[in-house]
Amino acid sequence: MKKNILLLCIIVAGFLITSSCMNNQQEKFSGNQKSNKTLMQIKREIFGTVNDTVPIYLYTLINENDMVVKLTNYGGIVTSILVPDNKHNFDDIVLGFDSLNNYLTGHPYFGAIVGRYANRIANGKFTLEGKEYTLAANNGKNHLHGGIKGFDKVVWDSKDYVDKDSVSVSLFYLSQDGEEGYPGNLSVKVIYTLTNDNELKIKYEAHTDQPTPVNLTHHSYFNLAGAGSGDILDHILMIDADMYTPVDETLIPTGELKKVKNTEMDFTTPHNIGSRIKEVEGGYDHNYVLNNGGKMAKVAELYEPHTGRVMEVFTTEPGMQFYSGNFLDGSITGKNRKIYQKHYGLCLETQHFPDSPNKPGFPSVILYPENTYGYTTIYKFSTR
Ligand code: GLA
Repeated sequence: MKKNILLLCIIVAGFLITSSCMNNQQEKFSGNQKSNKTLMQIKREIFGTVNDTVPIYLYTLINENDMVVKLTNYGGIVTSILVPDNKHNFDDIVLGFDSLNNYLTGHPYFGAIVGRYANRIANGKFTLEGKEYTLAANNGKNHLHGGIKGFDKVVWDSKDYVDKDSVSVSLFYLSQDGEEGYPGNLSVKVIYTLTNDNELKIKYEAHTDQPTPVNLTHHSYFNLAGAGSGDILDHILMIDADMYTPVDETLIPTGELKKVKNTEMDFTTPHNIGSRIKEVEGGYDHNYVLNNGGKMAKVAELYEPHTGRVMEVFTTEPGMQFYSGNFLDGSITGKNRKIYQKHYGLCLETQHFPDSPNKPGFPSVILYPENTYGYTTIYKFSTR
Protein backbone atom coordinates (compact mmCIF):
# COMPACT_ATOMS: atom_id res chain seq x y z
CA MET A 1 0.00 0.00 0.00
CA LYS A 2 2.71 2.46 1.15
CA LYS A 3 4.77 1.47 -1.87
CA ASN A 4 1.84 2.26 -4.17
CA ILE A 5 1.34 5.69 -2.59
CA LEU A 6 5.04 6.44 -3.00
CA LEU A 7 4.90 5.38 -6.64
CA LEU A 8 1.86 7.59 -7.21
CA CYS A 9 3.67 10.57 -5.61
CA ILE A 10 6.68 10.04 -7.87
CA ILE A 11 4.46 9.91 -10.99
CA VAL A 12 2.53 13.07 -10.00
CA ALA A 13 5.75 14.97 -9.16
CA GLY A 14 7.25 13.86 -12.47
CA PHE A 15 4.19 15.05 -14.36
CA LEU A 16 4.21 18.44 -12.63
CA ILE A 17 7.91 19.02 -13.37
CA THR A 18 7.49 17.99 -17.03
CA SER A 19 4.44 20.16 -17.62
CA SER A 20 6.02 23.22 -15.99
CA CYS A 21 9.12 22.76 -18.20
CA MET A 22 6.86 22.52 -21.27
CA ASN A 23 5.13 25.71 -20.22
CA ASN A 24 8.48 27.44 -19.89
CA GLN A 25 9.43 26.41 -23.39
CA GLN A 26 6.19 27.10 -25.20
CA GLU A 27 4.35 29.71 -23.24
CA LYS A 28 4.89 33.24 -22.23
CA PHE A 29 2.94 34.81 -19.39
CA SER A 30 2.48 38.44 -18.59
CA GLY A 31 0.08 39.99 -16.18
CA ASN A 32 -0.78 42.55 -13.57
CA GLN A 33 -0.19 41.44 -10.01
CA LYS A 34 -2.00 43.19 -7.15
CA SER A 35 -1.46 41.69 -3.66
CA ASN A 36 -1.69 37.92 -4.15
CA LYS A 37 -4.38 37.99 -6.77
CA THR A 38 -3.57 37.92 -10.47
CA LEU A 39 -5.83 40.53 -11.97
CA MET A 40 -5.37 40.29 -15.67
CA GLN A 41 -3.10 38.20 -17.73
CA ILE A 42 -2.20 37.07 -21.19
CA LYS A 43 -0.75 33.69 -21.96
CA ARG A 44 0.78 32.89 -25.34
CA GLU A 45 1.28 29.33 -26.45
CA ILE A 46 1.98 27.59 -29.72
CA PHE A 47 -1.28 26.56 -31.40
CA GLY A 48 0.42 24.75 -34.31
CA THR A 49 2.14 25.62 -37.56
CA VAL A 50 1.12 26.64 -41.04
CA ASN A 51 3.01 24.97 -43.91
CA ASP A 52 4.92 23.01 -41.24
CA THR A 53 7.13 26.02 -40.54
CA VAL A 54 5.24 29.18 -39.57
CA PRO A 55 4.37 29.06 -35.85
CA ILE A 56 0.82 30.07 -34.98
CA TYR A 57 0.03 31.37 -31.50
CA LEU A 58 -2.98 30.94 -29.29
CA TYR A 59 -3.42 33.84 -26.87
CA THR A 60 -5.46 33.50 -23.70
CA LEU A 61 -6.66 36.81 -22.26
CA ILE A 62 -8.07 36.77 -18.74
CA ASN A 63 -9.59 39.70 -16.88
CA GLU A 64 -10.11 40.18 -13.15
CA ASN A 65 -13.66 38.74 -13.36
CA ASP A 66 -12.21 35.51 -14.78
CA MET A 67 -13.69 36.20 -18.20
CA VAL A 68 -11.52 34.49 -20.80
CA VAL A 69 -10.99 35.25 -24.50
CA LYS A 70 -8.83 32.99 -26.62
CA LEU A 71 -7.65 34.10 -30.03
CA THR A 72 -5.10 33.16 -32.62
CA ASN A 73 -3.01 35.13 -35.10
CA TYR A 74 -4.18 32.73 -37.83
CA GLY A 75 -7.08 34.67 -39.41
CA GLY A 76 -7.37 36.81 -36.26
CA ILE A 77 -9.78 34.13 -35.08
CA VAL A 78 -11.42 34.29 -31.66
CA THR A 79 -11.60 30.62 -30.70
CA SER A 80 -13.32 30.93 -27.28
CA ILE A 81 -15.13 33.43 -25.09
CA LEU A 82 -15.87 32.19 -21.56
CA VAL A 83 -18.41 34.24 -19.63
CA PRO A 84 -20.48 33.53 -16.51
CA ASP A 85 -24.24 32.99 -16.42
CA ASN A 86 -26.44 34.46 -13.68
CA LYS A 87 -25.40 31.61 -11.33
CA HIS A 88 -21.74 32.26 -12.07
CA ASN A 89 -21.29 29.16 -14.25
CA PHE A 90 -18.87 29.78 -17.09
CA ASP A 91 -19.51 28.60 -20.63
CA ASP A 92 -17.80 29.06 -23.95
CA ILE A 93 -20.28 31.09 -25.99
CA VAL A 94 -18.68 31.08 -29.47
CA LEU A 95 -18.55 28.32 -32.05
CA GLY A 96 -15.13 27.05 -33.09
CA PHE A 97 -12.60 24.25 -32.89
CA ASP A 98 -10.14 22.84 -30.37
CA SER A 99 -7.27 22.53 -32.84
CA LEU A 100 -5.61 24.72 -35.44
CA ASN A 101 -5.88 21.98 -38.06
CA ASN A 102 -9.67 22.27 -38.10
CA TYR A 103 -9.35 25.98 -38.78
CA LEU A 104 -6.88 25.30 -41.61
CA THR A 105 -9.11 22.83 -43.43
CA GLY A 106 -12.02 25.21 -43.98
CA HIS A 107 -15.01 26.52 -42.03
CA PRO A 108 -17.62 29.28 -42.38
CA TYR A 109 -15.49 32.13 -40.95
CA PHE A 110 -15.83 31.06 -37.29
CA GLY A 111 -14.56 33.93 -35.11
CA ALA A 112 -12.47 35.43 -37.90
CA ILE A 113 -11.45 38.88 -39.02
CA VAL A 114 -13.05 39.30 -42.41
CA GLY A 115 -11.55 41.50 -45.16
CA ARG A 116 -10.55 43.20 -47.38
CA TYR A 117 -14.29 43.42 -48.00
CA ALA A 118 -16.73 41.81 -45.58
CA ASN A 119 -19.87 40.39 -47.19
CA ARG A 120 -20.66 40.40 -50.90
CA ILE A 121 -19.61 42.32 -53.99
CA ALA A 122 -21.95 41.58 -56.92
CA ASN A 123 -20.39 39.46 -59.70
CA GLY A 124 -16.98 40.04 -58.09
CA LYS A 125 -16.60 43.29 -60.01
CA PHE A 126 -16.39 47.00 -59.31
CA THR A 127 -15.11 50.10 -61.08
CA LEU A 128 -12.90 52.58 -59.32
CA GLU A 129 -11.54 55.78 -60.92
CA GLY A 130 -12.44 54.46 -64.37
CA LYS A 131 -10.79 51.06 -64.02
CA GLU A 132 -12.70 47.80 -63.65
CA TYR A 133 -11.42 45.32 -61.07
CA THR A 134 -12.28 41.61 -61.04
CA LEU A 135 -12.30 39.66 -57.80
CA ALA A 136 -12.83 35.96 -57.17
CA ALA A 137 -16.41 34.70 -57.50
CA ASN A 138 -16.34 32.48 -54.41
CA ASN A 139 -20.07 32.60 -53.58
CA GLY A 140 -21.97 31.61 -56.71
CA LYS A 141 -21.30 34.46 -59.10
CA ASN A 142 -20.54 36.90 -56.26
CA HIS A 143 -17.45 37.74 -54.24
CA LEU A 144 -17.75 37.01 -50.49
CA HIS A 145 -15.68 37.98 -47.44
CA GLY A 146 -12.48 39.05 -49.24
CA GLY A 147 -12.18 36.14 -51.67
CA ILE A 148 -10.49 32.76 -51.77
CA LYS A 149 -7.80 33.68 -49.28
CA GLY A 150 -9.28 36.54 -47.30
CA PHE A 151 -7.96 37.99 -44.04
CA ASP A 152 -9.57 35.06 -42.21
CA LYS A 153 -6.98 32.71 -43.75
CA VAL A 154 -3.76 34.69 -43.44
CA VAL A 155 -1.12 34.71 -40.73
CA TRP A 156 -1.05 38.02 -38.87
CA ASP A 157 1.97 39.38 -36.99
CA SER A 158 1.02 39.74 -33.36
CA LYS A 159 2.02 41.50 -30.17
CA ASP A 160 0.40 41.28 -26.74
CA TYR A 161 0.39 43.79 -23.91
CA VAL A 162 -1.17 44.48 -20.52
CA ASP A 163 -2.58 47.89 -19.57
CA LYS A 164 -4.02 49.15 -16.29
CA ASP A 165 -7.55 47.84 -16.86
CA SER A 166 -7.24 45.70 -19.96
CA VAL A 167 -5.20 43.16 -21.87
CA SER A 168 -4.70 43.34 -25.64
CA VAL A 169 -3.35 41.59 -28.68
CA SER A 170 -2.46 43.68 -31.74
CA LEU A 171 -2.53 42.00 -35.11
CA PHE A 172 -0.81 43.35 -38.25
CA TYR A 173 -1.14 42.30 -41.85
CA LEU A 174 0.10 43.77 -45.11
CA SER A 175 -2.22 42.91 -47.96
CA GLN A 176 -0.20 43.34 -51.16
CA ASP A 177 -1.32 45.34 -54.18
CA GLY A 178 -3.36 42.95 -56.36
CA GLU A 179 -4.05 40.43 -53.58
CA GLU A 180 -7.38 38.75 -54.31
CA GLY A 181 -7.75 41.29 -57.15
CA TYR A 182 -7.91 44.42 -54.94
CA PRO A 183 -5.82 47.51 -55.77
CA GLY A 184 -3.17 49.02 -53.47
CA ASN A 185 -0.96 47.83 -50.66
CA LEU A 186 -3.17 47.86 -47.59
CA SER A 187 -1.60 47.72 -44.14
CA VAL A 188 -4.09 46.57 -41.55
CA LYS A 189 -4.00 46.63 -37.79
CA VAL A 190 -6.64 45.01 -35.59
CA ILE A 191 -6.45 45.29 -31.80
CA TYR A 192 -8.43 42.88 -29.64
CA THR A 193 -8.80 44.15 -26.05
CA LEU A 194 -10.43 42.47 -23.08
CA THR A 195 -11.37 44.96 -20.37
CA ASN A 196 -12.29 44.55 -16.72
CA ASP A 197 -15.81 45.66 -17.68
CA ASN A 198 -16.24 42.33 -19.53
CA GLU A 199 -15.92 44.00 -22.91
CA LEU A 200 -14.24 42.55 -25.95
CA LYS A 201 -13.17 45.61 -27.95
CA ILE A 202 -12.08 45.32 -31.55
CA LYS A 203 -10.29 48.31 -33.05
CA TYR A 204 -9.63 48.29 -36.79
CA GLU A 205 -7.17 50.53 -38.64
CA ALA A 206 -5.90 50.52 -42.23
CA HIS A 207 -3.80 52.59 -44.64
CA THR A 208 -3.39 52.25 -48.38
CA ASP A 209 -1.13 53.58 -51.13
CA GLN A 210 -3.90 53.50 -53.80
CA PRO A 211 -7.66 53.99 -53.56
CA THR A 212 -9.28 50.68 -52.58
CA PRO A 213 -12.51 49.42 -51.01
CA VAL A 214 -12.15 48.39 -47.35
CA ASN A 215 -14.79 46.87 -45.09
CA LEU A 216 -13.54 44.88 -42.11
CA THR A 217 -15.59 42.93 -39.62
CA HIS A 218 -15.51 40.20 -37.01
CA HIS A 219 -17.38 36.94 -37.58
CA SER A 220 -17.94 35.19 -34.23
CA TYR A 221 -20.94 32.87 -34.07
CA PHE A 222 -22.48 33.54 -30.66
CA ASN A 223 -24.67 31.20 -28.67
CA LEU A 224 -25.16 32.64 -25.19
CA ALA A 225 -26.41 29.28 -23.86
CA GLY A 226 -23.05 27.73 -24.76
CA ALA A 227 -21.52 26.67 -28.08
CA GLY A 228 -23.06 23.42 -29.33
CA SER A 229 -25.83 23.37 -26.71
CA GLY A 230 -28.72 23.97 -29.13
CA ASP A 231 -29.98 26.63 -31.51
CA ILE A 232 -30.25 30.37 -30.96
CA LEU A 233 -33.95 30.62 -31.84
CA ASP A 234 -35.01 31.42 -28.26
CA HIS A 235 -32.43 34.19 -27.86
CA ILE A 236 -34.02 37.63 -27.59
CA LEU A 237 -32.54 40.23 -29.90
CA MET A 238 -32.80 44.00 -30.14
CA ILE A 239 -31.27 45.89 -33.08
CA ASP A 240 -31.45 49.66 -33.06
CA ALA A 241 -32.19 50.02 -36.77
CA ASP A 242 -35.32 51.43 -38.41
CA MET A 243 -34.23 50.19 -41.84
CA TYR A 244 -32.41 47.36 -43.55
CA THR A 245 -31.05 46.71 -47.02
CA PRO A 246 -33.30 44.17 -48.80
CA VAL A 247 -31.49 41.63 -51.00
CA ASP A 248 -32.03 39.68 -54.21
CA GLU A 249 -31.95 35.87 -54.34
CA THR A 250 -28.11 35.87 -54.33
CA LEU A 251 -28.07 38.07 -51.18
CA ILE A 252 -26.94 41.21 -53.03
CA PRO A 253 -28.71 44.38 -51.81
CA THR A 254 -31.20 45.82 -54.25
CA GLY A 255 -29.96 49.31 -53.32
CA GLU A 256 -33.17 50.21 -51.53
CA LEU A 257 -33.37 51.07 -47.80
CA LYS A 258 -36.57 49.53 -46.44
CA LYS A 259 -38.38 50.30 -43.19
CA VAL A 260 -38.53 47.39 -40.73
CA LYS A 261 -41.69 48.63 -38.99
CA ASN A 262 -44.52 46.08 -38.84
CA THR A 263 -42.40 43.40 -40.52
CA GLU A 264 -40.53 40.27 -39.38
CA MET A 265 -37.32 42.30 -39.79
CA ASP A 266 -38.20 44.64 -36.92
CA PHE A 267 -35.96 44.21 -33.86
CA THR A 268 -36.23 47.80 -32.65
CA THR A 269 -37.87 46.32 -29.54
CA PRO A 270 -36.49 43.00 -28.16
CA HIS A 271 -37.87 39.98 -30.04
CA ASN A 272 -37.49 36.23 -29.82
CA ILE A 273 -35.48 35.33 -32.95
CA GLY A 274 -37.42 32.13 -33.67
CA SER A 275 -40.85 33.73 -33.46
CA ARG A 276 -40.78 35.15 -36.99
CA ILE A 277 -37.78 33.48 -38.66
CA LYS A 278 -39.98 31.25 -40.85
CA GLU A 279 -41.33 34.40 -42.52
CA VAL A 280 -37.80 35.30 -43.67
CA GLU A 281 -36.74 33.27 -46.69
CA GLY A 282 -33.61 31.30 -45.78
CA GLY A 283 -33.47 32.89 -42.31
CA TYR A 284 -31.96 36.20 -41.25
CA ASP A 285 -28.92 37.19 -43.30
CA HIS A 286 -29.44 40.92 -43.68
CA ASN A 287 -27.65 44.19 -43.24
CA TYR A 288 -29.36 46.56 -40.81
CA VAL A 289 -29.02 50.31 -41.29
CA LEU A 290 -28.09 51.36 -37.77
CA ASN A 291 -29.63 54.39 -36.06
CA ASN A 292 -26.28 55.41 -34.53
CA GLY A 293 -25.65 58.26 -36.99
CA GLY A 294 -21.99 57.23 -37.23
CA LYS A 295 -21.44 57.79 -33.49
CA MET A 296 -20.36 55.15 -30.95
CA ALA A 297 -23.67 53.84 -29.60
CA LYS A 298 -25.35 50.68 -28.46
CA VAL A 299 -26.72 49.13 -31.64
CA ALA A 300 -27.81 45.66 -30.47
CA GLU A 301 -28.55 43.58 -27.41
CA LEU A 302 -28.80 39.80 -27.25
CA TYR A 303 -30.32 38.04 -24.24
CA GLU A 304 -30.52 34.34 -23.47
CA PRO A 305 -33.37 33.75 -20.97
CA HIS A 306 -32.21 30.40 -19.47
CA THR A 307 -28.72 31.52 -18.50
CA GLY A 308 -29.50 35.23 -18.14
CA ARG A 309 -26.48 36.06 -20.30
CA VAL A 310 -26.57 39.38 -22.12
CA MET A 311 -24.36 40.67 -24.92
CA GLU A 312 -24.51 44.31 -25.97
CA VAL A 313 -22.94 45.55 -29.20
CA PHE A 314 -21.58 49.08 -29.57
CA THR A 315 -20.14 50.51 -32.78
CA THR A 316 -19.62 53.57 -34.95
CA GLU A 317 -20.24 51.60 -38.18
CA PRO A 318 -23.37 52.41 -40.23
CA GLY A 319 -24.42 48.77 -40.71
CA MET A 320 -24.63 45.39 -39.05
CA GLN A 321 -25.21 42.00 -40.67
CA PHE A 322 -27.51 39.82 -38.60
CA TYR A 323 -26.82 36.26 -39.76
CA SER A 324 -28.76 33.50 -38.00
CA GLY A 325 -26.39 30.62 -38.88
CA ASN A 326 -28.63 29.47 -41.75
CA PHE A 327 -25.91 27.57 -43.61
CA LEU A 328 -24.85 25.47 -40.61
CA ASP A 329 -26.17 22.00 -41.37
CA GLY A 330 -24.70 19.48 -38.93
CA SER A 331 -21.68 18.75 -41.11
CA ILE A 332 -19.25 20.51 -38.74
CA THR A 333 -18.10 19.05 -35.43
CA GLY A 334 -16.72 21.74 -33.19
CA LYS A 335 -15.18 22.08 -29.74
CA ASN A 336 -15.79 19.20 -27.35
CA ARG A 337 -17.10 17.09 -30.25
CA LYS A 338 -20.33 19.12 -30.42
CA ILE A 339 -22.13 19.11 -33.76
CA TYR A 340 -23.22 22.46 -35.14
CA GLN A 341 -26.72 22.22 -36.59
CA LYS A 342 -28.69 24.93 -38.40
CA HIS A 343 -29.07 28.12 -36.30
CA TYR A 344 -26.64 26.91 -33.60
CA GLY A 345 -24.91 30.30 -33.65
CA LEU A 346 -25.60 33.84 -34.82
CA CYS A 347 -23.34 36.60 -36.06
CA LEU A 348 -23.66 40.34 -35.49
CA GLU A 349 -21.14 41.71 -37.98
CA THR A 350 -20.63 45.47 -37.80
CA GLN A 351 -19.80 46.78 -41.24
CA HIS A 352 -20.47 49.08 -44.18
CA PHE A 353 -23.27 47.87 -46.42
CA PRO A 354 -22.76 44.87 -48.71
CA ASP A 355 -21.92 45.64 -52.35
CA SER A 356 -21.24 49.31 -51.58
CA PRO A 357 -18.55 49.55 -54.32
CA ASN A 358 -21.43 49.11 -56.83
CA LYS A 359 -24.04 51.12 -54.95
CA PRO A 360 -23.38 54.88 -55.25
CA GLY A 361 -26.30 55.55 -52.85
CA PHE A 362 -24.62 53.67 -49.96
CA PRO A 363 -21.99 55.27 -47.68
CA SER A 364 -18.61 55.10 -49.42
CA VAL A 365 -16.16 52.30 -48.61
CA ILE A 366 -13.27 53.69 -50.63
CA LEU A 367 -10.11 54.37 -48.64
CA TYR A 368 -7.72 56.94 -50.13
CA PRO A 369 -3.98 57.15 -49.42
CA GLU A 370 -4.40 60.46 -47.55
CA ASN A 371 -6.98 58.97 -45.17
CA THR A 372 -6.98 56.45 -42.33
CA TYR A 373 -9.61 53.72 -42.13
CA GLY A 374 -10.70 53.02 -38.61
CA TYR A 375 -13.49 52.08 -36.28
CA THR A 376 -14.21 50.23 -33.04
CA THR A 377 -16.79 47.64 -32.07
CA ILE A 378 -17.43 46.47 -28.53
CA TYR A 379 -19.13 43.25 -27.48
CA LYS A 380 -20.00 43.66 -23.80
CA PHE A 381 -21.11 40.76 -21.59
CA SER A 382 -23.24 40.77 -18.45
CA THR A 383 -26.12 38.84 -16.89
CA ARG A 384 -29.60 39.61 -15.72
C1 GLA B 1 -22.09 36.17 -43.63
C2 GLA B 1 -22.94 36.14 -44.84
C3 GLA B 1 -23.65 34.85 -44.90
C4 GLA B 1 -22.67 33.71 -44.91
C5 GLA B 1 -21.82 33.78 -43.67
C6 GLA B 1 -20.77 32.71 -43.69
O1 GLA B 1 -22.80 36.34 -42.50
O2 GLA B 1 -23.85 37.21 -44.89
O3 GLA B 1 -24.44 34.81 -46.05
O4 GLA B 1 -21.84 33.79 -46.02
O5 GLA B 1 -21.22 35.02 -43.59
O6 GLA B 1 -21.26 31.44 -43.92
